[in-house]
Amino acid sequence: MINYKNNRTFVEGVPLDDIIKTQSTPFYVYSQSKITKIFDELKKTLDTEIFFAVKSNSNQAIIKLMASLGAGADVVSVGELERAIMAGVQPQKIIFEGIGKTKQDIALAIKNNIRLINIESIDELERVNEVAFHQNKKINIGIRLNPNIDGQTLDKISTGKKTDKFGIDTEKLDVINKVLKESNNVNLIGISCHVGSQIFNISVFAEIFHKMKINAQIFLDKGYDIKHLDLGGGLGVNYHQDQETLNLQIIKNEIDKCYIDVPYQLSFEPGRYLVAKAGILVTSIITIKNNGGKNYLITDAGMHTLIRPALYQAHHEIDVINKNNTQNINYTIAGPICESSDIFREDISLPKQEVGNLIIIKDTGAYGKVMASNYNSRGFPGEILIRDNNYCVIHKPLNTKEFINQDHIPEWLT
Ligand SMILES: Cc1ncc(COP(=O)(O)O)c(C=O)c1O
Repeated sequence: MINYKNNRTFVEGVPLDDIIKTQSTPFYVYSQSKITKIFDELKKTLDTEIFFAVKSNSNQAIIKLMASLGAGADVVSVGELERAIMAGVQPQKIIFEGIGKTKQDIALAIKNNIRLINIESIDELERVNEVAFHQNKKINIGIRLNPNIDGQTLDKISTGKKTDKFGIDTEKLDVINKVLKESNNVNLIGISCHVGSQIFNISVFAEIFHKMKINAQIFLDKGYDIKHLDLGGGLGVNYHQDQETLNLQIIKNEIDKCYIDVPYQLSFEPGRYLVAKAGILVTSIITIKNNGGKNYLITDAGMHTLIRPALYQAHHEIDVINKNNTQNINYTIAGPICESSDIFREDISLPKQEVGNLIIIKDTGAYGKVMASNYNSRGFPGEILIRDNNYCVIHKPLNTKEFINQDHIPEWLT
């Protein structure tokens, strides 16, 4: 999405220096054409329904773009549900997951007549039935199963092992069946799973498909009219420039091998795959320093802007805009936050830089802005969407005054 012409850096058709004239760093930039291309290719290859996992990038402009491309929305909180509805996603294209749904959350989802509430515990099943009873409705539900599969990914983004907190243990199918039989206000029509993020190993996908087919059959055999089988998200993204991309066609071949003449529709709920590569984070160098022989570039973005490197030691490629200096230096790129873990990359060779120069942190369209905080009382970054030669600020940066004003000092302290 970045290209260089006549010594200028462009994001699609927009020169970065044009954006910089009006926007202060740090900010995220997303490319509409890149998102469109990735979505269309995924949809065409897998040929299933796609629910965009809103948690990966919940800006309403991005949700609306996804909906316009034909995606549904996978939400995990009432806030995400409200965003999806406000962005114009049809309620029948929304599925509601998440392991901590309160009665109020469930009531709102039922009131909005969404496609499915995916139950993640037996206790939640009882709660959903009770709320539906009080609204005098019989509602469609799905069950998120925990298929006990090791996604062979980072521990902190693994969700499908038996001891992970997500989904219902498949050894409890008999208990689920018993509770379902006593629950007159719910109608089980869907089964789902999600075993983790950043999955590359095709044998993991094959295991998911195989186990979930068996699980769906168990429910069909018990007389449930299973119409939807959701195979989760987790499609891996190549964050390293020399890493291979995920081969979607091989995944499709596994799907076709496994699901022949099944009575339900398949779907996926990816987040990262659809948006990660379509976003960059633009930040400025505030300070350059040398500590103990180590050269630091301190940027105005930090773990409060993009937490993935500090939280999961996630890798992002980094580029500089100013490449005029022929001398290369090994730099460690760090944020301004008072935490030693606030480091984006250690010891990378870059052309010599000056304070004020811009740095681009690549592939940050997913789990970037959505995980930003105002730690150290720093502001939230803005977000910009680019379409061809035009750009639009789709989220204004929140300045420190705006959230400091949310504090309230009790009278007894004044
Ligand atoms: C239930 C569920 N579905 C989908 C996703 C999206 O995962 P990814 O962004 O890796 O595709 C997640 C991510 O944590 C999830 O928890």
